[in-house]
Amino acid sequence: MMSAEAMTAGQGASRYFRVEVAGGVATLVLDEPGERVNTVHPEAMREFAAHLDRLEKDEAVKAVVVASGKPDVWVAGAKVELMQDAKDAAEAERLSRDGQSLFDRVERCRKPVVAAIHGACLGGGLEWALACHYRIATDHPKTSLGLVEVQLGLIPGGGGTQRLPRLIGIQPALDLILAGKTVKARKALKLGLVDEAVPPPLLRQVAQERAAALASGKLRRAPRRAAGAVARVTRAALEENFLGREVLFRQARKLTLAKTKGHYPAPLRALEAIEHGYAKGFEKGLEKEAELFGKLAMTPEAHRLMEIFFATTALKKDNGVDDPAVKARPVSAVGVLGGGLMGGGIAYVTVNAGLPVRLRERDDAAAARGVAAVRGVLDERVKRRSIDRLERAEKLRLLTTTTAWSGLERVDVLVEAVFEDLSLKQEMVRAFEAVNPTGIFASNTSSIPIGRIAEASRHPETVLGMHYFSPVHKMPLLEVIVTPRTAPEATATAVALGKKQGKTVIVVRDGPGFYTSRILAPYMNEAAHLLVDGAAVEDLDHALVAFGFPVGPITLLDEVGIDVGDKVGKILQEAFGARMAPPAALHDVVKAGRLGRKNGKGFYTYGGKEKRVDETVYDLLPGGRRRRRVAADEIQERLVLQLVNEAIRCLGEGILRSARDGDVGAVFGLGFPPFRGGPFRWADAVGTKALLDRLERLRARHGERFEPAPLLAELGRAGRPFHGG
Ligand code: NAI
Repeated sequence: MMSAEAMTAGQGASRYFRVEVAGGVATLVLDEPGERVNTVHPEAMREFAAHLDRLEKDEAVKAVVVASGKPDVWVAGAKVELMQDAKDAAEAERLSRDGQSLFDRVERCRKPVVAAIHGACLGGGLEWALACHYRIATDHPKTSLGLVEVQLGLIPGGGGTQRLPRLIGIQPALDLILAGKTVKARKALKLGLVDEAVPPPLLRQVAQERAAALASGKLRRAPRRAAGAVARVTRAALEENFLGREVLFRQARKLTLAKTKGHYPAPLRALEAIEHGYAKGFEKGLEKEAELFGKLAMTPEAHRLMEIFFATTALKKDNGVDDPAVKARPVSAVGVLGGGLMGGGIAYVTVNAGLPVRLRERDDAAAARGVAAVRGVLDERVKRRSIDRLERAEKLRLLTTTTAWSGLERVDVLVEAVFEDLSLKQEMVRAFEAVNPTGIFASNTSSIPIGRIAEASRHPETVLGMHYFSPVHKMPLLEVIVTPRTAPEATATAVALGKKQGKTVIVVRDGPGFYTSRILAPYMNEAAHLLVDGAAVEDLDHALVAFGFPVGPITLLDEVGIDVGDKVGKILQEAFGARMAPPAALHDVVKAGRLGRKNGKGFYTYGGKEKRVDETVYDLLPGGRRRRRVAADEIQERLVLQLVNEAIRCLGEGILRSARDGDVGAVFGLGFPPFRGGPFRWADAVGTKALLDRLERLRARHGERFEPAPLLAELGRAGRPFHGG
């Protein structure tokens, strides 16, 4: 360790960087004032360059370490606002060129520069680290590295498309860049993306030692792991020759085309920049990268994806109650009622966040199934090496079970995921309050109004909904549902807990179907109407996949359960009347014993190798097996307009707090195509006036279920958009 005397802290500090010099090594600590994260932007970068200029001349300094002053972020990426605001491709291209030349400056620094990485090191942040001469990352779960630009419809624009493949090999670089994937330190080490992984407390010290060793020539590069080295040798042989590379690029293009289906231009452009760099050399590769970056920044896809990014970033800072003075209660333990499909998932995301969970089930066998579900997800993660055995054991230790109410008197929040039955849920409220009168009771019901559940409560201010999506450990959205009686403090607590569980959280007002189920219902009903009109199952699914949904409506219905769809449909019909009525034929399908994938009998056949439409299902529908072709445009128009119109109703009625929440909920809860930005961004792109006209045309042809939402009529007539209007 350095002695305190040898340290000259504060020397040369600037707005963005603290400077600590010790033992001939200068550590530049990036700590952007007033921000939660560090980002790459011209001002900070100019300062960094000035520091390098000065330190290069400083005889007392032999090497430089770059570290972060933020608790769990190294550098989160380039400042997205700059890309969003670029007025034309040339301006965006210039941003890219500026980043490239700065990172080039880092690489050319005559003294070794070591990146000491703890926390998120993403996009422009990783490009910065790639330009350094040595990279050390902490093996902490918060540390993740990746060139995630394609998630914003862009490509790495600071030399990432050129440096990454040259550092770790073409194939691994394609895997990361084309999918915008992130990796943890252990994987990064194996890939050769970082040179060392160390525990957080050792980071600075090891970085300074390595920097000094690089300066004195004692260290050239870090010892590589044997396994990685072997993989690299065989791969290198392939990648070194022109023909081998051709094969790699061709395969990558094919896979990318299949995956992006023409909806996302960025991955193919990234591939183009990488290929260009290998064909024409590093410098030309950089030029191509900047040119393509500039063009992509002007695409509607990039703009929609950046807007979704801003919306989720804003939600991270939102406490859910429009009043910053309201504070969430501290949560130190969580109860879960029911360890079935949903309860098991909820228990997992909670222990995964480091919170103790008390799981209550009906009997020991059911409790054991709940624990097994949690263990199953953890085992899967151990297998994928995203956690180790020790972490698995630590997380599992946080989970205890009971078949009584013992231990639940101490939880701060109880999430209820028992059967979907109002009287059972009300009984749960009463029983919980008897042992824990101040605890928050959150129901995961998918269709029962929270207000009805709260009727059983003596403290309705503590009752709300926390609506998770299945599978809970994968689905990013949480819908928090509040009644007029829910206390803001309870809402803020549920929101904070959801965020801790890794969820993107929207708060919606109580009402039948809340938000997501309510907008999904008319969309699904419309699919059923089209079936009744003679459309074929596969045409329906193909049309919506072509629109950009991950799966089509009929596949979704089979997955969710046709009986569940039928039940939710009925509840919404009761609440909203004829416009939400599913066609009777859907009920006939359920009556015939077809429940979907769960009983192996739905619209598709299950069990065989290939998924096929089960033609016999048409015998239950008007028109029988003779189906007529319906154009994809018509299918998309009818289904999407139903969903969007209902979303607008939700905004008009105050179910949604904002159009932003409506976009985020549809994208993360229902798979509404992210590159279309969500129902409200999509409506704005179409134009509210044009959308109103389209709905009126459908209404004239198909009836009142297409009646435009009052808010759309209002905005459409005034020609005003939902966002920024
Ligand atoms: P499930 O049937 O898999 O699990 C329910 C569990 O509750 C069972 O393990 C059962 O033993 C337990 N249980 C019943 N009575 C209990 C009691 N008195 N005390 C303790 N445990 C009890 O059902 P699933 O799918 O997990 O659904 C649970 C809730 O989540 C329902 O309200 C459902 O509507 C809702 N939901 C379901 C979604 C889904 O995709 N399955 C999505 C979102 C919400």
